[in-house]
Amino acid sequence: MDRIVEIEKISFENEYEISLRPSNFDDYIGQEKIKQNLKVFIQAAKMRNEPLDHTLFYGPPGLGKTTLAHIIATQMESNIKITSAPMIEKSGDLAAILTNLEAGDVLFIDEIHRLSSAIEEILYSAMEDFRLDIIIGSGPAAQTIKIDIPKFTLIGATTRAGMISAPLRDRFGISFRLQFYTPDELSQILQKASLKINKSSTKNAALQIAKRSRGTPRIALRLLKRIRDYADVNNESEISQQRAEISLNELGVNELGFDEMDLRYLEILTEQNGRPLGLNTISAALSEDEGTIEDVIEPYLLANGYIQRTAKGRIATYKTYDTLKISYQKGLFDEN
Ligand SMILES: Nc1ncnc2c1ncn2[C@@H]1O[C@H](COP(=O)(O)OP(=O)(O)OP(=O)(O)O)[C@@H](O)[C@H]1O
Ligand SMILES: [Mg+2]
Repeated sequence: MDRIVEIEKISFENEYEISLRPSNFDDYIGQEKIKQNLKVFIQAAKMRNEPLDHTLFYGPPGLGKTTLAHIIATQMESNIKITSAPMIEKSGDLAAILTNLEAGDVLFIDEIHRLSSAIEEILYSAMEDFRLDIIIGSGPAAQTIKIDIPKFTLIGATTRAGMISAPLRDRFGISFRLQFYTPDELSQILQKASLKINKSSTKNAALQIAKRSRGTPRIALRLLKRIRDYADVNNESEISQQRAEISLNELGVNELGFDEMDLRYLEILTEQNGRPLGLNTISAALSEDEGTIEDVIEPYLLANGYIQRTAKGRIATYKTYDTLKISYQKGLFDEN
């Protein structure tokens, strides 16, 4: 059991994140619509004395999916068991997890798009009827046994909603896409985190860091951690705007929050001078797999209008040429 459902591998970096992880909705900044809805669904489930409906969270990494799963469990006053799809290799692994659940437990499966189809099939009846249909043996001697399991809530998380099969997706009664955070929301997260790590930061310092964090709390918190180092070695008790700016430049974080990969991606596109470029070509040029490009690099650039996806491929927008101060062929943006 321990092998399958184990607490996430706790690296040093993760421990820092976990220590800053909000444990209730009030401390969870932003994603207002999701919070409002979840609060209602949780209250209703508790009034009916039922577990919450199965819930799916999807969206780019570091936006707070795992954090929400923990908050839900706390609000439902349930235990949470955590696993991830790659850890569930055999049907027996899943059966062991499900039969060990207690009524009302939350089962969190991370990277849920990576379940094998055989495992998914078992999950269907577990989600729908709280029943396990397991086939034992093979050939004519094969037998199906049915085991009832306690009513539980499955929370799935994924960065790749498009890769979840329709039958699995349809079995989630609740499904939310997480959005990128505004600089203002990120700066609130940063100021709360600053206090927790005993290194306050001024409002303007937090806003500077927020603006360069790609709309992502995880990135904001990592930058804060590094900037705290700069403040510490300079014997500064507080992170000032100037300290934040100097450190961000030292760290090589661009004023727009683009990292090296974003810049290389945009460079490749702008070199096309308006011709669309296919995902596979971009993938080859960056030596990065297509999934990572689609799920990690592109969502932020798309959400902020730096690129467009067309049937023929990706195109850099006027905003990109303008922002990166790259000249373009005359007439390219005349229609806009
Ligand atoms: N809304 C929020 N308010 C405050 N802090 C947040 C919020 N969302 C995320 N965080 C912080 O960012 C960190 C990363 O969030 P989390 O691990 O939940 O992201 P994730 O969406 O599960 O990422 P991944 O897809 O990589 O698993 C958390 O540890 C938490 O400290
Ligand atoms: Mg997560």
